[in-house]
Amino acid sequence: MSIRTLDDLLAEGVSGRRVLVRADLNVPLDKQTGDINDHDSASAPQGGAPDGVRIADDGRIRAVLPTLSALTGAGAKVVVCSHLGRPKGSPDPAFSLRPVAGRLGELLGAPVHFATDTVGDSARSTVDALADGEVALLENLRFNAGETSKDEAERGGFADQLAAFGDAYVDDAFGAVHRKHASVYDVPARLPHFAGRLVLREVEVLSTLTGDPARPYVVVLGGSKVSDKLAVIEALLPTVDRLLIGGGMCFTFLKAQGHEVGSSLLEEDMVETCGNLIERSGGKILLPVDVVAADAFAPDAAHDTVPADGIPSKRVGLDIGPETVAGFAAALKGAKTIFWNGPMGVFEMPAFANGTRGVAEAIAKSGAFTVVGGGDSAAAVRALGLDESSFGHISTGGGASLEYLEGKTLPGIAALEK
Ligand code: 3PG
Ligand code: MG
Repeated sequence: MSIRTLDDLLAEGVSGRRVLVRADLNVPLDKQTGDINDHDSASAPQGGAPDGVRIADDGRIRAVLPTLSALTGAGAKVVVCSHLGRPKGSPDPAFSLRPVAGRLGELLGAPVHFATDTVGDSARSTVDALADGEVALLENLRFNAGETSKDEAERGGFADQLAAFGDAYVDDAFGAVHRKHASVYDVPARLPHFAGRLVLREVEVLSTLTGDPARPYVVVLGGSKVSDKLAVIEALLPTVDRLLIGGGMCFTFLKAQGHEVGSSLLEEDMVETCGNLIERSGGKILLPVDVVAADAFAPDAAHDTVPADGIPSKRVGLDIGPETVAGFAAALKGAKTIFWNGPMGVFEMPAFANGTRGVAEAIAKSGAFTVVGGGDSAAAVRALGLDESSFGHISTGGGASLEYLEGKTLPGIAALEK
């Protein structure tokens, strides 16, 4: 691989140089009180950041600290940029990175200078005022249409403005490397470019899965939609020894097996595809044999465990059942490599968290090399209070890790290779 790394940049010396770091600080926010769009109210903090916003999971902020600390420690002027959520190309206070700047500063143990725009007056003056070893965070990249534009010229114009803030570029936004966006794909064409520590570690780990994983290699997939996972299932089937399927997507597979799924999540147009996958998998695909079915999609809904072939017509499946957890645990025991993406049920509601917890615990104690992929599964590990260190690697990328496993060219990685 011809990628230059952060260590190469540090070896050149960065003291007094401006280093533009693309991070993925797209963290889940809890909106605690009131209307978060009510940012003009007198109670809103200065600068228009929405009031009552709490960072629900700061894993992605912590994941980028090694790169940032290495740069500040070496005396660089560090300019961090990121997206948050999916605003539509213009400023939207609900997606401000301001709360992230606060948390980043706490974790770094040094103030983070926040620019209230991305490439405007505030960004220019904030970057100009940086002293050696200081950090600035620019406002959400996606407040600018050029960031995600499909038009090369429009993206390029925005990339020119961003690139003006750096003498070198470091990509540490693994979660966004599958996006052909200005800050990911076009900026590295304009500046000397380097892979940050997080990006390197993610690629190193995921490449062991696509290379020659120790066997048995077992993959656990969950999450709500089959259509999101279809390409990765296709890519994984020839490689894996077992593919365990839970989460909302399992109901489309159960339907393909001829079972009724009540009012559970169902992608009608994927039923036939799922049937073909089951058939072609030669027994590698393992599906739930029981599910927790509830009266409604609500934390306090009445619910019971029912056989997967006996879901009552008015009930909604919100978790895999205990017999399924035991079967999945048996398949995970003795595995040498495990990749897990997607929760097994609605883990945010305690009544429907047992499947995700049970499978996560089985993965953690398997003795295998374990990789947890994706925002939701990583958040589940932390939300359920599981010990993060009992997993080999917790990826910060959901879509990015899946596309990597699909064998796709990732624009952000390709741009670093040039
Ligand atoms: C993610 O959370 O998946 C990454 O931050 C990428 O965000 P996106 O899916 O909105 O491009
Ligand atoms: Mg995504």
